[in-house]
Amino acid sequence: MSSLEDTWGRERLVATLYDFGVHNPVVGRVAALGLWGFDIRRLFSSIERLRDAAPGSRVLDVPCGGGLAFGGLQANHGLDYTALDFSPVMLQRASARMEKLGLDGIRFRQGDVGALPFDDGSMDLCLTYNGVHCFPDPARAVREMGRVLRRGGVLRGSLVVRDAGLRYDMLIALFRQRGWFGPGCSRDQFMGWLGSAGLMVRAVDVSGAFVVFEAVKR
Ligand SMILES: C[S@@+](CC[C@H](N)C(=O)[O-])C[C@H]1O[C@@H](n2cnc3c(N)ncnc32)[C@H](O)[C@@H]1O
Repeated sequence: MSSLEDTWGRERLVATLYDFGVHNPVVGRVAALGLWGFDIRRLFSSIERLRDAAPGSRVLDVPCGGGLAFGGLQANHGLDYTALDFSPVMLQRASARMEKLGLDGIRFRQGDVGALPFDDGSMDLCLTYNGVHCFPDPARAVREMGRVLRRGGVLRGSLVVRDAGLRYDMLIALFRQRGWFGPGCSRDQFMGWLGSAGLMVRAVDVSGAFVVFEAVKR
């Protein structure tokens, strides 16, 4: 059985398959719906909101994976954009995607969401798509993302949650056993962590076992 580090950091198969699937409009849509009852268009609507960020905004994309959130960037985005992930495989894919999309101005860093290498209040916007259910210590990750956001800064993201239905919980348990998912959380637990991190929920969109959310740092 693989550990989380093996799955995302060392073994290429799961990371590559996931990343291929999530970037393919048909595969991504069918898989999200079939596995999680999730209408993935809601995720892409959230990602598109990146275009509203003012030039010069300091943006942290964690975990960047293969660069899913880059889809929301325009060519001359003018953002101070840092993409962080602990997986070298994913960072490589993200860098290739940046080139493919003809983007520049993205800084890549290998690191752990549980110990972000940034000062308190140093980010205007933090994006965390499909990461919380994979993190080894999701409560700590939420605390860290809250810490690096400035007052009025925004955390936007998506995650799979427990207690959304027996079928989903069984799948989560299986993914956890395989080392693809971390301990995860229920929706209520996640909302509690946001509150403890000083983040006020501004929008929540629930679809199947997925939550797409936006929260503001108080
Ligand atoms: C399901 S992928 C999501 C990636 C991307 N945001 C997306 O939506 O496609 C989960 C990612 O979390 C990363 N990850 C897991 N634990 C991490 C940690 N402690 N710190 C940083 N990244 C982590 C993995 O390397 C992987 O790229």
